[in-house]
Amino acid sequence: MSVPLNREELKKKREKFIIPGVKQMYADPPHFVKGKGQYLFDETGREYLDMFAGIVTVSVGHCHPKVVQATVNQVNTLQHTSTIFMTQPMVDLGEKLAEITPGDMGKSFITNSGTEANEAAIRFARLATGRHEVIALEHSYHGESHLASTLTANHNWRPDTMPAAGVAYAANAYCYRCPFKKSPDSCGLECAQDVERVIQSQTSGKPAVMIAEPIQGVGGAITPPDDYFIEVKKILEKYGALFIADEVQTGVGRTGKHWFGISSYGVQPDIITMAKGLANGLPIGAVVTTEAVAKALQKQTINTFGGNPISAATALAVLETIEEEKLMENARVVGEYLMAGLKDLQKQFPDMIGDVRGKGLMVGMELADKNKVPLTQETMRVVEMSKDEGVVIGKGGMWGNVIRIKPPLSITKDNVDTMLKVLKKCMEAVVKVHAKA
Ligand SMILES: Cc1ncc(COP(=O)(O)O)c(C=O)c1O
Repeated sequence: MSVPLNREELKKKREKFIIPGVKQMYADPPHFVKGKGQYLFDETGREYLDMFAGIVTVSVGHCHPKVVQATVNQVNTLQHTSTIFMTQPMVDLGEKLAEITPGDMGKSFITNSGTEANEAAIRFARLATGRHEVIALEHSYHGESHLASTLTANHNWRPDTMPAAGVAYAANAYCYRCPFKKSPDSCGLECAQDVERVIQSQTSGKPAVMIAEPIQGVGGAITPPDDYFIEVKKILEKYGALFIADEVQTGVGRTGKHWFGISSYGVQPDIITMAKGLANGLPIGAVVTTEAVAKALQKQTINTFGGNPISAATALAVLETIEEEKLMENARVVGEYLMAGLKDLQKQFPDMIGDVRGKGLMVGMELADKNKVPLTQETMRVVEMSKDEGVVIGKGGMWGNVIRIKPPLSITKDNVDTMLKVLKKCMEAVVKVHAKA
């Protein structure tokens, strides 16, 4: 392999040849050249604990030997035919997805990304209902195509000024910043009732479908209360609308206990979309649905790369690894430990940590002052300093003030301790600057 460029050279080259919109997260970015398990290594050989897994993608750890072997075997055997020819890995993956998805969801359409999966899911829902309108939630993120970015109710990710037609937005279940200024113990789930208000006031009364992330990812790990989706689903059924759970981040075991985050809310969706962690970093997406919805697509569809043997064989190995290594259980146990540690940190920095939330290893920590003013600059500083201390964490939220912790599902409690120690050090440094300002 050629000698990697040093980070300054690579940064300059990237700025010269890649469009500026493809941003990276750091002011002083390392050049990552290697990954192993939950660790990344830069061009100087320095090790980093990866608590963000790419962007919530490296589900079973970087370069997992079993997964690598499955990919390499397939690369050496058959790489491509497209969906118009018959190959087995895509079909085996469909069988496995039918097994792990809840209820009677036996039909899969394999894509290359979450964006594509959401596009296809909306199309299926429209065809199945003969309706057009879609409801999405505020603060959502659903992808980068014209339709998917219209479904995304967050101006940071909405470059188009002319959105796709037929999308209405309901308030999200953001308890820390309740859109209705209520408190969770006495709110009567007004956020869920908002779906009915939106159907009545912003649609024909006959929407095709609602799409929602069980926990909003890019939005900053916004975690609805337990009964939220049950109430929402009742409203959707009343108006004859379907429900898509966008599990691109919450899927394949991340929330602990269940394969899919929506199952922890006791709700059966009509369609599930997934991507990211399904193939541990190889391009993939999937839509899984019922026979009834699937058969509404009467015309033929094609996807040159979707369902390709390499990504499909890799995804199968990922799902087997999650089962064999009991990674869902690990996500639950280590996730609870992580949550307790972050809550403890919150007690130590009550003027800077407004909220800690999430399920399993899908966790967010919102930095805000006593008046809930978002601490955006401080969040950036913590993220940058934490990298300098050897720990990679993510960032998100409408105001860029949520630290996102979504590591490989294989991390240990020791890894959590390492990260908490680093976070504490970074917070102490930031508090000093914050106090002076
Ligand atoms: C919830 C959710 N849906 C969809 C997408 C889009 O997936 P992709 O980047 O694979 O197109 C993302 C990406 O971050 C996501 O978080």
